[in-house]
Amino acid sequence: MTPSPTFRIAPSILSADFARLGAEVSDVIAAGADWIHFDVMDNHYVPNLTFGPMVCEALKPHAKKADGTPVPVDVHLMIEPVDALAAAFAKAGADYISFHPDASPHTHRSVQAIHAAGCKAGLVFNPARGLEILDWMIDEIDLILIMSVNPGFGGQSFIDSALRKIEQARKRIDASGRDIRLEVDGGIKTDNIARVASAGADTFVAGSAIFNAPDYAGVIGAMREQLAAPR
Ligand code: DX5
Ligand code: ZN
Repeated sequence: MTPSPTFRIAPSILSADFARLGAEVSDVIAAGADWIHFDVMDNHYVPNLTFGPMVCEALKPHAKKADGTPVPVDVHLMIEPVDALAAAFAKAGADYISFHPDASPHTHRSVQAIHAAGCKAGLVFNPARGLEILDWMIDEIDLILIMSVNPGFGGQSFIDSALRKIEQARKRIDASGRDIRLEVDGGIKTDNIARVASAGADTFVAGSAIFNAPDYAGVIGAMREQLAAPR
């Protein structure tokens, strides 16, 4: 079965106004966000420090549409080690939990632990990392996240070699016959999202492109128009 090509836009609250995070989550959902992307940094695996499970728990009630439909919380762990905090994020309301396999000595066990905690599990690939681990892991996961910047900061430029990696990941997903989301993170803007979709991505993280704009709905709408245009 070919996975559904439904596109998802996942605003990263890394670029939101931290003094009013709950309102920012509500506003970006009202503007059309499909998922909320939650970037967890530990000042160890990456040279920056953000927020932990307590903040995720506080935001969870805001992760829903006006009619009450829940909006998935997509937790991207940039931390080492992985397992203890992954369990804490599962308790805090995460729906997807993704981690960098190079940050866990037992990648398979970490995925099992995320599933056992009731969440969907993803693996994240830095710009200089290959996809070989998927030879062994593709049947175990729900999401592949391709980094198109080096993790740690918002507002960086898209690294073009990610497009080749997205194409490779798409081939692997299609060959697996499994329903796995292919997400891309870093430097996604209205003017490159179509290229990223053409390479095979179905889920798009965007931080600065959305939160640094005055009109969130305008940006999300423009991204959807790009995704809908024939390619
Ligand atoms: C970077 C984070 C991204 C970041 C993307 O380490 O994983 O999610 O928020 O920001 P932009 O969209 O500004 O590149
Ligand atoms: Zn991220």
